[in-house]
Amino acid sequence: MARRLTVFECTACEFQSPKWLGRCPECGAWSTLEESSPDRTKPAPPGSSRPIPFPEIPETGVARLSTGLPELDRVLGSGLVPGAAILLGGEPGIGKSTILLQAASILASRDNSVLYVTGEESATQLRLRGDRLKVTEKTLLVLEETDVDRITATAKETSPTLLIVDSIQAVSCSDVASVPGSVAQVRESAQRLVRLAKSTNMPVVLVGHVTKEGGLAGPRALEHVVDTVVQFEGDRHHAHRILRTLKNRFGPSDEIGVFKMTSTGLQEVPNPSEVFLAERPENVPGSSVHAAIEGTRPILVEIQALVGEPMQGNPRRTALGIDSQRLALILAVLQRRAGLTLSDRDVFVNVAGGLTLTEPASDLAVAAAVASSFHRKPIPQDWALIGELGLAGELRSVSRLDARIKEAERLGFKRVLIPERAQHLTDALDRLFKGA
Ligand code: TYD
Ligand code: MG
Repeated sequence: MARRLTVFECTACEFQSPKWLGRCPECGAWSTLEESSPDRTKPAPPGSSRPIPFPEIPETGVARLSTGLPELDRVLGSGLVPGAAILLGGEPGIGKSTILLQAASILASRDNSVLYVTGEESATQLRLRGDRLKVTEKTLLVLEETDVDRITATAKETSPTLLIVDSIQAVSCSDVASVPGSVAQVRESAQRLVRLAKSTNMPVVLVGHVTKEGGLAGPRALEHVVDTVVQFEGDRHHAHRILRTLKNRFGPSDEIGVFKMTSTGLQEVPNPSEVFLAERPENVPGSSVHAAIEGTRPILVEIQALVGEPMQGNPRRTALGIDSQRLALILAVLQRRAGLTLSDRDVFVNVAGGLTLTEPASDLAVAAAVASSFHRKPIPQDWALIGELGLAGELRSVSRLDARIKEAERLGFKRVLIPERAQHLTDALDRLFKGA
């Protein structure tokens, strides 16, 4: 007789293990492994699915619904798709409730109804925020509720154009044993809300808090369940906020939308380059400008570097807005290929404005900012830099060069240093600092 196989599956990330473990090695969550039996010979459940010939698949051609905030539409992939399940993540206080209430109010003012479920704050607290945002719409319905089945029942009854659940961590299922806020609860609640979205075609936005480690709580579980994951980034202490698409079944991912928090809500920033360069110091060593591509759009950003004597002990390397491994590589190349003795220095690099750059196209601008601080020589104000750095010190070409150059020109940069014009890092640095 075949031995019955038992598997333990992580309720957070679906990782499977033959034995029980206290901590999931895949997503790092604690106590999430539960026994499940992989009985693959079960009879098919009754149902009516059948294969259809390709041309008979109905075309979608769906009309997307604008949220009334073009920067939000952009990250969603030109608006809300019917039946889409969207997760909006971000640290507490970053502005998730604010942006959703603003979008809800605009939608409601355009002959739609919106159901805003508040599970964390009372309706009165929501009202305070809404008064600040000048919300007056009668078709914006507010429901104070945390039970997922009562939420779905109300949503079916009122059938709004958009359902917002703020937040998914506050919602729970009465028939799931674990405590509210636990991974199992959050996942099951999200799944029920996603099913509602799919069965009614109602787009659903779930708010999810991001944990200190930067992951969406209920780790990767929620990211699998929804169609789109949008994350609010930025520094709570500064006005600018960046909305970034981490995953999108209905549009490009990595798209960003830029906002500014004001006393009357979030304001869109249609020209982010201007904002990211607005506070750039003039003729100061350690500052360079890079033409980045974020999503579909070129954006100019200032990169700042500071090279200093270590205060104590080992030199420190701090990277904000770029990957620290990437910074280590750039510093090694600067040392070995361009002769800058950095090994005994502190190096700090920061992307101004809170943007996070992920492309290696910013290497040259990072290297130049570090070299500029090292030599205490400013980079001329009218240069913008683009290029990836190879380990031999060679500059490598990058994608969408034309769009980047155009954006630099639009913002008044007269000279753009690109890999085609300087083959090696030393050529590039000579041109920047010797005016060659
Ligand atoms: P909120 O939307 O409550 O954040 P989240 O839902 O992500 O936790 O935003 C809270 C912050 O935004 C809070 O510090 C107050 C500030 N704020 C403004 O500056 N202006 C405004 O008009 C509003 C509504 C909030
Ligand atoms: Mg909130």
